[in-house]
Amino acid sequence: MNPNNYIEFNKASWNQKTQLHFDSEFYNNAAFIDGKNSLNEIELNLLGDVTGKSILHLQCHFGQDTLSLQRMGANVTGVDFSEAAIEKAKLLNDQLGLNANFICCDLYSLPDYLQNEKFDIVFTSYGTIGWLPDIDKWASIVAQYLKPDGKFIFAEFHPVIWMYDNDFTKITYSYFKQDAIIETESGSYASRESGEPFTTITWNHSIGEVVSALTKQGLKVNHLQEYDYSPYNCMSFLTESEPGKFRIKEMDNFVPIVYSLVAER
Ligand SMILES: C[S@@+](CC[C@H](N)C(=O)[O-])C[C@H]1O[C@@H](n2cnc3c(N)ncnc32)[C@H](O)[C@@H]1O
Repeated sequence: MNPNNYIEFNKASWNQKTQLHFDSEFYNNAAFIDGKNSLNEIELNLLGDVTGKSILHLQCHFGQDTLSLQRMGANVTGVDFSEAAIEKAKLLNDQLGLNANFICCDLYSLPDYLQNEKFDIVFTSYGTIGWLPDIDKWASIVAQYLKPDGKFIFAEFHPVIWMYDNDFTKITYSYFKQDAIIETESGSYASRESGEPFTTITWNHSIGEVVSALTKQGLKVNHLQEYDYSPYNCMSFLTESEPGKFRIKEMDNFVPIVYSLVAER
């Protein structure tokens, strides 16, 4: 399989996963529609008061976080390449009487769809950059859409986690792996046992790579924090060791699971 075809394979997998996720307990749309904020403490603390702020939300999936930000008083544009996800996001937006804007495109082609607009905040979180081969190109998109005093706010799974096999029993990939990781599986973090198998093509990006790419764009990284927990129960080896904090059984505090980063001009 040619990793250059990653858009085709990954988009098909996300289109397939969207309906499963939309109906899943994991995303609990009923609670979200009832007013539950889908954002977690980690990113909420970094975002602060977003009232009146313009936010570009990259890789927004079917829009829960985008719409949570909109409900918090921001003016948000969500971007995702999955037609199914953007269709659901627009549906939720209308159902909730909100006014978020959604763009359906590959992240790298966003400049073809969104010109002459800059944002107070560019935001992206949990399970995003691994779908992108070129982190320098990603950072250039982030920088391009920030106002001169804008902030990039990012929360992501830690690259150490992606070195392991699915059961977290052995290290399978190098921290420094540059090549694509090609996997065929069924189910996903939100819906483990259902659906036809699909192939995904992903990349593990080290923290050094991410910081260097943002720095090359003239951004100053002024916050970088690693956490020994995930706010999501999204991997088979995690257990809830305190409310809303999922850690690795028998490995409490040993490995980082998530990190957050803020960069400014
Ligand atoms: C794990 S989800 C985002 C997580 C988000 N925090 C959530 O739970 O709603 C990753 C998203 O990235 C999108 N995506 C993957 N590759 C992309 C690309 N090249 N351009 C735009 N979106 C992409 C997928 O469609 C998916 O909706």
